[in-house]
Amino acid sequence: MTEDILQSRWNRVYKLESPTGHVNVRVYDDAEGALFVMLRLVEDALTTAISERGRALWIGAGGGTPKPVYEQLDTLNLPWDKVTLSQVDERFVPVDDAASNTKMMAEAAAPLIAKGMVFETLIRDITDPVVCAEKAEALLRSFNGGEAPMFDLTLLGMGPDRHYASIFPGHPINAMVYDTESLVLPVEPATGGVEPKLPRITLSVKALNRSRRIVLYITGFEKEKALEAAVADPNPDRSPIGAFLAQCPAPVDIVVG
Ligand code: 6PG
Repeated sequence: MTEDILQSRWNRVYKLESPTGHVNVRVYDDAEGALFVMLRLVEDALTTAISERGRALWIGAGGGTPKPVYEQLDTLNLPWDKVTLSQVDERFVPVDDAASNTKMMAEAAAPLIAKGMVFETLIRDITDPVVCAEKAEALLRSFNGGEAPMFDLTLLGMGPDRHYASIFPGHPINAMVYDTESLVLPVEPATGGVEPKLPRITLSVKALNRSRRIVLYITGFEKEKALEAAVADPNPDRSPIGAFLAQCPAPVDIVVG
């Protein structure tokens, strides 16, 4: 990825302190500019993977922010039959449910799937979240001969409450998501009317750290301020995204639209 492509559209750029020193933040004052760069970053990561290893394996977030990225990827001239996409996390609902990230991603990426991209949902079983997480882990391991895979690209989102994936502030999962050997975990709904209101399935930190590149895509001033506050206070319970970035070995590009 040449810097001039990244620089052509950004308004502000700065680095965030992290052990790897690889957390670059690029702020775009227009959604179009941010989307332009997101497509370049995805294109660069998938093209590099395919040229080096013959295939690309990536995982994407749900929610609303990345949807235009999934929709616009069809403008890229990539060999989509050499690409596999799965998920960072998922709501534990049927894949045709309105709240399903699988539904959103499958619809947004339909042209890529028609061109041969493999899209694998984490919802491998809808009877029990624990069984579903176990089967989703088996899926991920099937990408690498039974071992934990490396993701050529992880596309993350973030909430204004500083959550990422399905790792939410104040949730008991924060006490074990860093130390577990599991790649995929069930997440109990929170009580008290806070998120997550639905049961979830999420990749663990061990799994997410096995990314060759991470792109965190957020929009709006509120999320940018939440990100800066999270990085300044990387406590897992208060700032899940801040704690994650503080230990993540992968290079991270943060795009703020
Ligand atoms: C989900 C996502 C979640 C998302 C953030 C941001 O299932 O909701 O995986 O982690 O990335 O909540 O969501 P928005 O992009 O809709 O703000």
